[in-house]
Amino acid sequence: MRKLPLLLVAALLALSLSNGRGAAAEPYQIAVIPKGTTHEYWKAVQAGAIKAERELNAAGVPVHVIWKGPLKEDDREQQIQVVENFIGRRVSAIVISPLDANSLVAPLATAVQGKIPVVTIDSGLNSPLVSCYVATDNHEGGRVAARTLAGLVGPAGRVMMLRNATGSANTEEREEGFLEAMRQEFPGIKLVSTDQHGGVTRDNAYRTGQNLLNRFGREIDGVFACNQPTTAGMLLALRDAGLGGGKVKFVGFDTGVVELAALKAGDVSALMVQDPFGMGYLGVKNAVAVLRGEPVKKVIDTGVTVVTRANLDEPAIHDLVNPPLDQFLK
Ligand code: BGC
Repeated sequence: MRKLPLLLVAALLALSLSNGRGAAAEPYQIAVIPKGTTHEYWKAVQAGAIKAERELNAAGVPVHVIWKGPLKEDDREQQIQVVENFIGRRVSAIVISPLDANSLVAPLATAVQGKIPVVTIDSGLNSPLVSCYVATDNHEGGRVAARTLAGLVGPAGRVMMLRNATGSANTEEREEGFLEAMRQEFPGIKLVSTDQHGGVTRDNAYRTGQNLLNRFGREIDGVFACNQPTTAGMLLALRDAGLGGGKVKFVGFDTGVVELAALKAGDVSALMVQDPFGMGYLGVKNAVAVLRGEPVKKVIDTGVTVVTRANLDEPAIHDLVNPPLDQFLK
């Protein structure tokens, strides 16, 4: 057998080591890593990622999406391990919602050093290493939530805010945006409590909500909760305290079966709705674009919409709050 020229051998070896693709025809392996796997929110992200996978495959760009994340959204170690495992498997690219903006920097830097590009979705990373960031403008989302709640409680209302978890960039941005708009635009509104964290589960948020309402329930007109589990937990607490039905105006963030039913029932006044389906979809699309050397935008804003009983039946809102999960997750 003739010996292959040394240069050709080196080129073939480099190809086989590059981006998880053993040969040109093998699919790009795109690891999609949510903050956690328990909340309904992530189903829409996963469905969007699969839509992108199917479209790319149909267009002749072989792609395989691998979905894996930690169970709980405060388990930094587990999310880091998931990243490290994917680096070990030599995936082609990582699409991730970092559950902590700082703790994930080092493992993701290792990925990028190993020529595995990183696209963040949903929540930011404190690092310029990211090729593309696809998310809500969360600071603005918090400001819009403040204006929505202010409109419901009036210029001399008394409100409180339930925080999520420390280190989570997107919810911290919402919290800051909310407080900033309240202070700048509605100086007459009294901020009764703004420093309590509901944590990453509905049950924890429920307990925090109960404590807050025990203390301040009689003196508040409105509440803001900044993501899905805090909204679900606060909803239960308001109902328990007999403050549902709009007695205390309640603005939550995100939708799900429970939140939508509560909006229809009048226990939630408004929901700030993100586009998690779009985040999953654009996350994978942009990761593949990076791998193919195509230009990508550094930041993509997927938008946030105020959903109330009044606009729930508009076709665009209907589609936003009912992403086609069955079509992509079955
Ligand atoms: C946030 C996600 C979070 C989810 C569930 C959403 O509002 O954007 O980052 O993981 O709520 O907690």
